[in-house]
Amino acid sequence: MNSPISLKKGAELTLTIEGAAFKGKGVAKVDGLAIFVPGTMPGDVVKARIVKRRKSYREAKMLELLEESPDRITPKCQHANVCGGCSWQHVPYQKQLEFKTQQVSDHIRRIAGLETPVLPALGSDKAFYYRNKMEYSISNKRWLTEEEIRSDDFVDDTAFAAGLHAPGRFDKILNLNECHLQREESFQILQFVKNYCLEHDIEPFNIFEKEGFLRHVMIRTAHHTNDFMVNLVTFRDEPDTMKALSEALVEAFPVITTIVNNVNDQHNPTAIGRYEKVYYGTGFIRDKIGEFEFKIHPNAFFQTNTAQAEKLYNVAREYADLKQDDVVYDLYCGVGTLSLYMSLKANKVLGIELVDVAVENARFNAKENKVENVSFVRGDMKDVFTQEMVEQFGAPDVLITDPPRAGMHPDVVNRLCELKVPKMVYVSCDSSTMARDLKLLSEVYDVLEVQPVDMFPQTYHVEAVAKLRLK
Ligand SMILES: C[S@@+](CC[C@H](N)C(=O)[O-])C[C@H]1O[C@@H](n2cnc3c(N)ncnc32)[C@H](O)[C@@H]1O
Repeated sequence: MNSPISLKKGAELTLTIEGAAFKGKGVAKVDGLAIFVPGTMPGDVVKARIVKRRKSYREAKMLELLEESPDRITPKCQHANVCGGCSWQHVPYQKQLEFKTQQVSDHIRRIAGLETPVLPALGSDKAFYYRNKMEYSISNKRWLTEEEIRSDDFVDDTAFAAGLHAPGRFDKILNLNECHLQREESFQILQFVKNYCLEHDIEPFNIFEKEGFLRHVMIRTAHHTNDFMVNLVTFRDEPDTMKALSEALVEAFPVITTIVNNVNDQHNPTAIGRYEKVYYGTGFIRDKIGEFEFKIHPNAFFQTNTAQAEKLYNVAREYADLKQDDVVYDLYCGVGTLSLYMSLKANKVLGIELVDVAVENARFNAKENKVENVSFVRGDMKDVFTQEMVEQFGAPDVLITDPPRAGMHPDVVNRLCELKVPKMVYVSCDSSTMARDLKLLSEVYDVLEVQPVDMFPQTYHVEAVAKLRLK
């Protein structure tokens, strides 16, 4: 039991972490009040300072780890405590899966008010090196960690940072000495590019002055083929510089199959250029999800953990329980991967999606895979998913919905309640908003089962699939 003490902002106290809460924070209770502490896990005893005071909870910063949880492990990566990429490296993978299952289960019980069984999260075969895409940033503004600033020996000898954004900072880059999210060559290539630039006086991008050359190094690898793409995003179009760098890269890393240069000469910070040039190979990679092959261009959306995406889609397909003459709707279809996945066992599939280029990609993917029973409509779901659409395309026997983090617009949820679809599958990347929507949907549908799927080991994120049937 924690002693009853001041819970004002700035108060310092000793806390025993009892649970893992939303966004991966550890949670302690004092006089029934929840105190969230990032970087902790159940079993830790910490000295912490209250940094945010809200009516029903507090947020605190860990000042000292007084007693480690018996489950705590040493993070694999030296940057784990400061880099926003992997906030759960101190938690063993099996425990991460348990916490994720618990998180989904809590949302279903507390937010949706349902007793639906939540199955144990399906884990990733790889707990590291699972990403097929990394987008490293390059900057002349290096983010110094508190440890570096305090250290007597530290010399900031480089104004060339290559790594990931410091948490919450658009302008500061955490210079990485290691990263274990993508296969090993990925980080070696980043280091090679950085050293090459330093040796050849190629400047990093300066976001404030809008000058310099190199902005991002993006790497895309394939799971089912040997394709390997390096995409160098630059502020200027300098063919000679790019040609020489590409040749050096290909010589040092024969694994590379294509090199692309996105030229982003605008002020927006994205890796999508105004135009792109291919310096080596075809300019795209090929990969597969299930039976389908995808041509993936540098800026196309593609699930970032291919092996887990297959598991996720298999759960969705199993929950859909398709019959060959079913009419299927795929709401929020992105580039149509789930639509294609469903098409094999259905009469026809309609995918609906907001983003123009995603719909273009979806049509392209269908054509490339010679799938003729899918079609796509572009538009905002709340506006285009209407009774007229249903009359035109036919009433759905099965409906898949995979909305963004915010969940579905209330108008869309209401339409689904009116439409009374016999079978529905809800795929979600945020179980709290899914639970909010399920609460309303459960007036018309039985929510039979929920299966969490872990696409992002070492992070607190978890996908979940819910199986619904008309009451
Ligand atoms: C979680 S992704 C789904 C991706 C896809 N099902 C897949 O597995 O690759 C959500 C998609 O919803 C789209 N979206 C977001 N808001 C939307 C809206 N209001 N109407 C239609 N689509 C929307 C996004 O562009 C994104 O492609």
